[in-house]
Amino acid sequence: MLIALLPGDGIGPEVVAEARRVLEALDLDLSFEEALVGGAAYHATGHPLPPETLALAKRADAILFGAVGDPTCDTLERPLRPEQALLALRKELGLFANLRPATLFPGLEDASTLRPEIAAEIDMVIVRELTGDVYFGEKARHITSDGRREGYDRMSYAEDEVRRIAIVAFEMAKRRERILCSVDKANVLETSQLWRDVVNEVAADYPEVTLTHMYVDNAAMQLVRNPGQFDVILTGNLFGDILSDQASMCAGSIGMLPSASLRAWSGENGMYEPIHGSAPDIAGQGKANPCATILSAAMLLRHSLDQEAAAQRIEAAVSAALVAGARTLDLGGTLSTRAMGDAVLAALN
Ligand code: NAI
Ligand code: MG
Repeated sequence: MLIALLPGDGIGPEVVAEARRVLEALDLDLSFEEALVGGAAYHATGHPLPPETLALAKRADAILFGAVGDPTCDTLERPLRPEQALLALRKELGLFANLRPATLFPGLEDASTLRPEIAAEIDMVIVRELTGDVYFGEKARHITSDGRREGYDRMSYAEDEVRRIAIVAFEMAKRRERILCSVDKANVLETSQLWRDVVNEVAADYPEVTLTHMYVDNAAMQLVRNPGQFDVILTGNLFGDILSDQASMCAGSIGMLPSASLRAWSGENGMYEPIHGSAPDIAGQGKANPCATILSAAMLLRHSLDQEAAAQRIEAAVSAALVAGARTLDLGGTLSTRAMGDAVLAALN
């Protein structure tokens, strides 16, 4: 099985290196090929997603992605910016389904910004649509006829786009606690009204799942008030982006949350990455928490390679390392990225 490693820039290479060590320690028949993406690719080739990187991503059985967002590229025109590589990969590979589990690992109650007894309840998956919405709609800036600068981004969803992500969320809910909350802004947005209609239609095929709808502003509030009420959250690209960062702090740190981006429920050719960005403020200093990327590697084994036992082994090792007190800076500890990787490896063996 070929795994494409796309470390990216910022802390990406540091955290992907630790995840690779964990994967290599598992004694599975895996091979790795690495390619440049994001700022690293721009500086080497003049483009954030070189053709050979895209070709490798398409050829591989699964992709482990670090992060992109090199601030030295901030002044480049939009198509050359590192984040475009990520959007292009998602679009090119048809990765419309983004699974973002948020659970509180034992011992991390003190790292959560919530009260320990509330944080302890967190165990959810955010199913975020990834290739539609305002991120991919027509966007422009211009000068209006009366001389004002104006910018716009078109938000839209077509019914098939909503249906396929809703199916992923219902399938997920069916395998969990059978509670699904669809999050939108249907009181204001036409896009959301369609979203809600289609989700209700899909619900007819899943009578065993209890479906509720919630407005995104209320969902943001409920996530910190009573996160235990959520099992599976289904939402669009923009709302999912924001809510999952919020959920991460409830679960201790953004450095803990993995994700899977899939093009079908089956996980074929999926891409796996931490939910955080390139963290330029700590890049190159060995301060990043590699757990989100290591846990993304576990999701890779589960969803794309059908290696559930190996996935659980990694998750158990992360959990054991944390229980034994291993903590990076973001979790209030002192371990470096490498030392945290060592702690997970020690727990694995
Ligand atoms: P960020 O997620 O990179 O960082 C936010 C904060 O969390 C920073 O203080 C950072 O130090 C901390 N942090 C993030 N990951 C951490 C880890 N593993 N361990 C410890 N601390 C961690 O978000 P920010 O600062 O908004 O964006 C930085 C750049 O990354 C931007 O260019 C942005 O566009 C890009 N970005 C890329 C993403 C991706 O590659 N998937 C996702 C989000 C942002
Ligand atoms: Mg985000």
